[in-house]
Amino acid sequence: MTNFPVIAVDGPSASGKGTVAQLVATKLGFHYLDSGALYRIVAYAAKQNNIAWDNALAVTECAKTLNIEFVNEQVLLNNLDVSSEIRTEAIGKGASQVAVHAPLRATLVDLQHKFCKAPGLVADGRDMGTVIFPDAVLKIFLTASTETRAQRRYQQLLAKNQPANYENILQDLTERDARDKGRASAPLTMADEATLLETDNLGVSEAVDYILQKYQVLLNT
Ligand code: CDP
Repeated sequence: MTNFPVIAVDGPSASGKGTVAQLVATKLGFHYLDSGALYRIVAYAAKQNNIAWDNALAVTECAKTLNIEFVNEQVLLNNLDVSSEIRTEAIGKGASQVAVHAPLRATLVDLQHKFCKAPGLVADGRDMGTVIFPDAVLKIFLTASTETRAQRRYQQLLAKNQPANYENILQDLTERDARDKGRASAPLTMADEATLLETDNLGVSEAVDYILQKYQVLLNT
């Protein structure tokens, strides 16, 4: 299905996969797909249009009308920069609610495939290695304990001067994990052939180096 190499980086919220995947893409000169941003944009757009996140049909129809572009570091929705609006915890929660809808997921498949361009792609999400790019040359499943991830998200929000409460974040993460793993359509699960990378005691640069080394080994075989 894909003509160029894809490295799939999947895992739960705040496992560090965004940072790691982006750095791997930069080092290799590959394109980068932040698939979570797509679900966040849909949740944001639905909210703007007063569409309830649990309304599968309306959410899907709304998604079909959206013009989504990634330009440099910016996420553009219908030509407007919504990069910071989609990063709030509330929209993250909404993203995991709209993401349960199978018709919506189907609508976003082609858009995700379009990111696979020369010389290659690093794709970050929940179902990159299992559903969207099943023939990815390398599949990584990045995770960490719920407490470590909640602590990271807490620090991220503080750094961005956004409201943050550790206990609320821990509870939200637990709920999102349960929803992401328990949904019928493309649940968060590790692909059989994926490599598990636990990041509780692994720094960002170590995780990046590990993935780059694995990729190098693949190229040499
Ligand atoms: O930043 P964080 O890891 O918390 O979330 P994200 O990667 O931005 O994704 C937001 C939500 O979108 C997740 O909680 C998932 O429910 C959903 N998602 C998904 O279902 N499939 C993907 N490939 C990516 C994200």
